[in-house]
Amino acid sequence: MNINNNFLKLQDNYLFSKINMKVNDYLKENPKAHIIRLGIGDVTRPISKVVIEAIKKAADEMGREESFRGYGPEQGYEFLRNIIVENDYKNLGIEKDEVFISDGSKCDTGNFIEVFEKGINVAIPNPVYPVYLDTNIMYGNNIIYMNLCEEKNFEPIPEELLEVPDLIYICSPNNPTGVGMRKDLLKKWVDYASKNNSIILFDAAYEAYISQNDIPHSIYEIEGAKKVAVEFRSFSKTAGFTGLRCAYTIVPKEINCKGNCLNKLWNRRHSTKFNGVSYIIQRGAEAVYSEEGKKEVNKNIKYYMENAEIIKDRLDNLDIKSYGGINSPYIWLKIPKKMKSWDFFDLLLEKYNIVGTPGVGFGTKGEGFFRLTSFGKREDIIEAMERLK
Ligand code: MLT
Repeated sequence: MNINNNFLKLQDNYLFSKINMKVNDYLKENPKAHIIRLGIGDVTRPISKVVIEAIKKAADEMGREESFRGYGPEQGYEFLRNIIVENDYKNLGIEKDEVFISDGSKCDTGNFIEVFEKGINVAIPNPVYPVYLDTNIMYGNNIIYMNLCEEKNFEPIPEELLEVPDLIYICSPNNPTGVGMRKDLLKKWVDYASKNNSIILFDAAYEAYISQNDIPHSIYEIEGAKKVAVEFRSFSKTAGFTGLRCAYTIVPKEINCKGNCLNKLWNRRHSTKFNGVSYIIQRGAEAVYSEEGKKEVNKNIKYYMENAEIIKDRLDNLDIKSYGGINSPYIWLKIPKKMKSWDFFDLLLEKYNIVGTPGVGFGTKGEGFFRLTSFGKREDIIEAMERLK
């Protein structure tokens, strides 16, 4: 028996695992170091009270005979699917059976390719959130890189594609560059996909951070998108669910691949391979949409975006060019003096005890850049910026 040879084409470690290993090695040698972690985009604000109350109440229900629940629907409970449609897709024509509740966008963006044959052409930006690339390599797909550059604001342009892809990954607001894509550019992508029978996998995990009006929150704001785009969203960065796990994917019934309805196929895949998110957590996610929940979410997002402003201001003062941080919690900075990304990572870690993410970890076109997240605690952000100075 042979292993899946595609795994041998991957780099040894997942980017964020490699960073963790480096930090842990450093801490072994320097156990007293006060490390400030602005690397992986993990939230630090506690979960809002109203969500915690809903979780407790649901846990209590599980302990009483009359309200106990066993297996739930793999696609998610109706109460959550309905509230998502009513709030996030109001007037966008999305129906509740087009919503699939899951435990994270990382899994969904990686797993979705399973409904297609292996070896298809997949357009992936460079730099990119490494999950899209790694999962497609594992699956044996053919990668068509969309090289992003500073001169073009790190935005992918359909006209620059040298080959027609079957699938196109787009993330907006973008991880890692923090750039939000304008409506007119997204429209170009939807038109391109319609014309060429491509399917867009649109990752909107950071939509809650959008502050500018011309950046769409959903791809379905673009006419025609329901025929060509699948959308991924998550409670992780929006409501602090990185430790609770809840996300959702929208698969419109109108999208088809050579006459096969993708919604039906994803439903089949999801109900076979996924157990569903726990009832307790789904009740917590439902509470995010309550009046109090929305207020709390907005407060936390404001907190993180103020952090982003502090980081950007400091970088500006240091004459360091940066992108993002306006519609996204990520700040993508240009490393001074043409230093390489991993060298800059080592310098920040060893000399200033700050952890970020080297741009080249997101792809070759990220070389010379570095990502900081604004998800840290305020005092850590201020301290890190003082150290940078
Ligand atoms: C990141 O840092 O890019 C994200 O936190 C990773 C993720 O959400 O999986």
